[in-house]
Amino acid sequence: MVRKIYLLSIYDYIMNVEKLFNISNKVVILTGASGFLGQQYSEALSQKNVKIVLADINYQKCKKLEEQLNKKYSNETLSLKLDVGNKKSVQSMVSKTLKKFDQIDGLINNAVFPETVKERSIPLETFPLDILQKIISVNTIGSFLCSQEVGKIMAKKKNGVIVNISSIYGMVAADQRIYGKSGLNSSIGYALTKSSVINLTRYLSSYWGNKGIRVNTLTLGGVEYNQDPEFIKKYSEKTMIGRMAQKDEYVGALVFLLSDASSYMIGSNLIVDGGWTAW
Ligand SMILES: NC(=O)c1ccc[n+]([C@@H]2O[C@H](COP(=O)([O-])OP(=O)(O)OC[C@H]3O[C@@H](n4cnc5c(N)ncnc54)[C@H](O)[C@@H]3O)[C@@H](O)[C@H]2O)c1
Repeated sequence: MVRKIYLLSIYDYIMNVEKLFNISNKVVILTGASGFLGQQYSEALSQKNVKIVLADINYQKCKKLEEQLNKKYSNETLSLKLDVGNKKSVQSMVSKTLKKFDQIDGLINNAVFPETVKERSIPLETFPLDILQKIISVNTIGSFLCSQEVGKIMAKKKNGVIVNISSIYGMVAADQRIYGKSGLNSSIGYALTKSSVINLTRYLSSYWGNKGIRVNTLTLGGVEYNQDPEFIKKYSEKTMIGRMAQKDEYVGALVFLLSDASSYMIGSNLIVDGGWTAW
């Protein structure tokens, strides 16, 4: 008799795997939606029939992305202009989302301060405080504000998922030797803020864990586009897998974190970095 029940439960589990990854009709806010990886996430979530709020300081790019997605997919989308570092702007995003969709199931804190080659090349000794504050305002305060405003709604419903996007440079220091004269040096602002969201995840998890909100970090390694070949070579040698990531290699992890497949995961950090931080 006991064995029978055991077999039945295994059978049920196998039958529900598809369901575990089902995020169809969930309402998910994606900040920095029109950026390089935001576009990949938007495409993937559209394929999963998610109702996506495309939120970005660059509204025009969001609208364009929305039009492209609407031609290919039947999920609903909403484009919003958002400045993550501005509380009123974040509050407006939440109220417009609720007006259209009446619920918020997920938040992806993906927006990042647009560091140019100029900022990335400033020596630490002279790194200007005003630039550091701008980076903190978007990367750290922005993730906090969006989590605070969206988390309030989720806590009332006792349900929700927040994903904070971090980087290997939030976990370990950027190896200054791989940059050469590429102008791609990773700034102190990026290091400080990307590490801060990892502990933001833990704090929010301990605060809201008993309110049905799961908060996790998704830590990424560098994606190849058309960087300096010497940089790509040096970067690749620092990974166990021997290459940089392709732009679509993070969508699986994101879907996992948004779905019930990760229902026992909270306050954690999912690292997808080709092994960069593992040796
Ligand atoms: N691309 C990579 O190789 C890589 C590697 C590791 C981690 N990441 C992380 O992935 C995330 C996305 O990176 P990406 O390469 O797509 O960056 P991106 O610069 O292409 O996109 C960032 C988006 O954020 C938006 N943004 C900037 N300031 C904003 C603000 N104040 N309010 C709202 N939106 C704002 C920009 O308009 C842009 O669309 C970031 O959090 C980044 O740290 C990226």
